[in-house]
Amino acid sequence: MGWLLLKVFLLGMTFSGFLYPFVDYSTSGNTKAQRPNIVIVLADDMGWGDLGANGAETTDTVSLDKMASEGMRFTDFHAAASTCSPSRASLLTGRLGLRNGVTHNFAVTSVGGLPLNETTLAEVLHQAGYVTGMIGKWHLGHHGSYHPSFRGFDYYFGIPYSHDMGCTDTPGYNHPPCPACPQGDGPLRNPEKDCYTDVALPLYENLNIVEQPVNLSGLAGRYAAKASEFIEQASSSGRPFLLYVALAHMHVPLSVTPPLANPWSQRPYRAGLREMDSLVGQIKDKIDRTAKENTFLWFTGDNGPWAQKCELAGSVGPFVGSWQTHQGGSSAKQTTWEGGHRVPALAYWPGRVPTNVTSSALLSVLDIFPTVVALAGASLPPGRRFDGLDASEVLLGRSQAGHRVLFHPNSGAAGERGLLQTVRLGRHKAFYITGGAKACDGRVGPAQHHAPPLIFNLEEDAAEGVPLPRESAEYQAVLPEIGKVLADILQDITKDNTSRADYAQDASAIPCCDPHHVACRCQTL
Ligand SMILES: *[C@@H]1O[C@H](CO)[C@@H](O)[C@H](O)[C@H]1NC(C)=O
Ligand SMILES: *[C@@H]1O[C@H](CO)[C@@H](O)[C@H](O)[C@H]1NC(C)=O
Ligand SMILES: *[C@@H]1O[C@H](CO)[C@@H](O)[C@H](O)[C@H]1NC(C)=O
Ligand SMILES: *[C@@H]1O[C@H](CO)[C@@H](O)[C@H](O)[C@H]1NC(C)=O
Repeated sequence: MGWLLLKVFLLGMTFSGFLYPFVDYSTSGNTKAQRPNIVIVLADDMGWGDLGANGAETTDTVSLDKMASEGMRFTDFHAAASTCSPSRASLLTGRLGLRNGVTHNFAVTSVGGLPLNETTLAEVLHQAGYVTGMIGKWHLGHHGSYHPSFRGFDYYFGIPYSHDMGCTDTPGYNHPPCPACPQGDGPLRNPEKDCYTDVALPLYENLNIVEQPVNLSGLAGRYAAKASEFIEQASSSGRPFLLYVALAHMHVPLSVTPPLANPWSQRPYRAGLREMDSLVGQIKDKIDRTAKENTFLWFTGDNGPWAQKCELAGSVGPFVGSWQTHQGGSSAKQTTWEGGHRVPALAYWPGRVPTNVTSSALLSVLDIFPTVVALAGASLPPGRRFDGLDASEVLLGRSQAGHRVLFHPNSGAAGERGLLQTVRLGRHKAFYITGGAKACDGRVGPAQHHAPPLIFNLEEDAAEGVPLPRESAEYQAVLPEIGKVLADILQDITKDNTSRADYAQDASAIPCCDPHHVACRCQTL
């Protein structure tokens, strides 16, 4: 207990290095100077088709489009899962949910999180001497040791899970709309299933709840300010840094500052997109002013748009998954259709990543872990296998070789969660199970098993509209290898050290500043 309190106390002294006093920072000055700072910005529920550079017919992403022209844009880049917690767990471990244990989302009442014997990217870089910070949505467990402050981050500022998992006084735009937090004193009630009205959304700085409910209207500005402060302080520490920024945008509820005078003509989604774009632009400007030549900035998304939110959801671009939408249900977030996991992705590193180039290499959020570990000159944690690859040769413009094979796990639309139900092999994609998430019209597409699988040729049919005829030469040519790569990875996973996440729920895990208040309300800032 005393040790824990000491640790909590030391966490306040963010960049002191006291938290892990056993780490040796005496790396030779020369190597240290060459190790890049790493900034990863992860958008939430953003559509591939929202990005101007990807062909959107709007000018809502001017900063991101500028970043694309100053760096590399990826057109075939995929989230590791199609929903929040599994996607983030894979980003931070380089492993699929079947290995790291995170196959579906954690709840407000979850007692567990990303298994503690999984090693996070922040832990690896911290051990290698980096200053590590995280700003934004965690969603990998908030109770006890699952909090980001115990998962390798020296500094944390953000919300523990999605911002629709708690009420606020500024409810923003949601579909259907959710009410503001209840007022007054009273006992803590149980959270409801839809619209978590009873527990106010907390904002953390390190281990402390600094505001509950958080004011969503000012959150983008505060994230920008905290990111700027972190970059400033970390840059002057003489050590390289890792900053992971997991934005609240474009997840619902959308909130825009100042509030829209006429939301129905001003389109909250587009206004939110502009606010997100400006936030990323501010972070990039800060990098350019502080550590331009030595900072690698990676922008991508956690999964596709949340179609059931109708006009408050983003655009999948050409990846409309029309085979599924014709059956009913959505083919975006929570599904293994392209709209669920193909995400915008940009890399920026002046002088290192070539400018104004587009890469069609097949890459994944899974690759962030091995790539960043390689750029930092660190080593992969031993005793486990990884699903990502080191993409640094692609980023530096020396190769076009991405994955030949990628697996897309079930992310809740239909079927068993975490199961590898879709296989990408080159330009082909095979579905062993299809299913549609809840669409704007309320319909879902039930799970359908396909043996042999449906196979689409994505080069000729980006919309995944018409599967190849089973008797065609093309289908017959790819089927055996698809079956083999799937059997191989399942065999590999049985031989790996895998973890199991604790998905148990208990009211004691609710993050609560003042339990005497009906919504756990408090303000300390
Ligand atoms: C929320 O923050 C905005 C500024 O970002 C401010 O105008 C508004 O008054 C705040 N609302 C509450 C309830 O504090
Ligand atoms: C980027 O490349 C495109 C063509 O590929 C060109 O039209 C555009 O002017 C270039 N932008 C910059 C900033 O170099
Ligand atoms: C699993 O862990 C054990 C003990 O830590 C180790 O000997 C073994 O090589 C690991 N397996 C894999 C696949 O890395
Ligand atoms: C995590 O711990 C469990 C239980 O001790 C073990 O079976 C598993 O192999 C560990 N996973 C890793 C990645 O070491």
